[in-house]
Amino acid sequence: LETVHTVAALRGLLARARREGKEVGLVPTMGALHRGHLSLVALARRGDDVVVASIFVNPAQFGPNEDLTRYPRTRAEDVALLQGAGVDVLFMPSVAEVYPRGFATRVEVGPIGTVLEGKTRPGHFGGVATVVTKLFNMGGPDRAYFGQKDAQQIAVIKQMVRDLDLPVSIVAGPTVREDDGLALSSRNRFLSARERTAATVLSRALQAGRQEAEERGATSEKVRLAMHDVVMAEPLARLDYATVVDAATMDPLDEPRPDALLVIAVVVGSTRLIDNMVLGGV
Ligand code: PAF
Repeated sequence: LETVHTVAALRGLLARARREGKEVGLVPTMGALHRGHLSLVALARRGDDVVVASIFVNPAQFGPNEDLTRYPRTRAEDVALLQGAGVDVLFMPSVAEVYPRGFATRVEVGPIGTVLEGKTRPGHFGGVATVVTKLFNMGGPDRAYFGQKDAQQIAVIKQMVRDLDLPVSIVAGPTVREDDGLALSSRNRFLSARERTAATVLSRALQAGRQEAEERGATSEKVRLAMHDVVMAEPLARLDYATVVDAATMDPLDEPRPDALLVIAVVVGSTRLIDNMVLGGV
């Protein structure tokens, strides 16, 4: 594992790989790595000759009321995990390297950035799109890997790649879950033991929603209600949204089509968790 901190060093390494005809896969992360991230590295390992992972806690995607300093930082463990997973290059830039003095340009993602997660976190997806564009331009990967757990983030990035003609393929890796269904997230570490038990409410609600969607004459409203009822029965949980959307645009759907996405956000204790399920998926 070769660790680099500057764009120049990253470009130098990757230029060499490219001269040798190698294809490059990028797994962008903010650290606090778990098996979900490692599954993306494993996908990249299969699809690309050189695997680059980045760790950068991106200030631009945190709102003024979101605690950037609270974001878990577990550098030593992260580096060991990436090494064990067979990453070739770790890119760990400083904030000044990514956003030098005078930095002013931002990627604007349009309406998709204002719904669901974007409603609670104004500016979040613009911040994600901006840093992801920069990472693509810094590393020039052939493929980039993102977890399906952040379905709206994937939709935003795919839209951006299409709209801005970015020469990179986006690969979505399936959500990795604990045995009881809880989707892996770096935020799970904030849950107390009781909250951790309650947090299965997200996957239980999604299952109930899917079951309802499979009924004859199902409507999105009935699916929403089925998810809502599961969350209401959990005293430690507060529902933010549970709805049926188009997976590419995040627009709400009246009918739960087989390719529709169920999305849910729930606050458990003081931790906000999200999850989703493709209706026709497994
Ligand atoms: O999903 C994440 O960890 C971040 O949003 C990403 C894609 C690394 C951009 O900062």
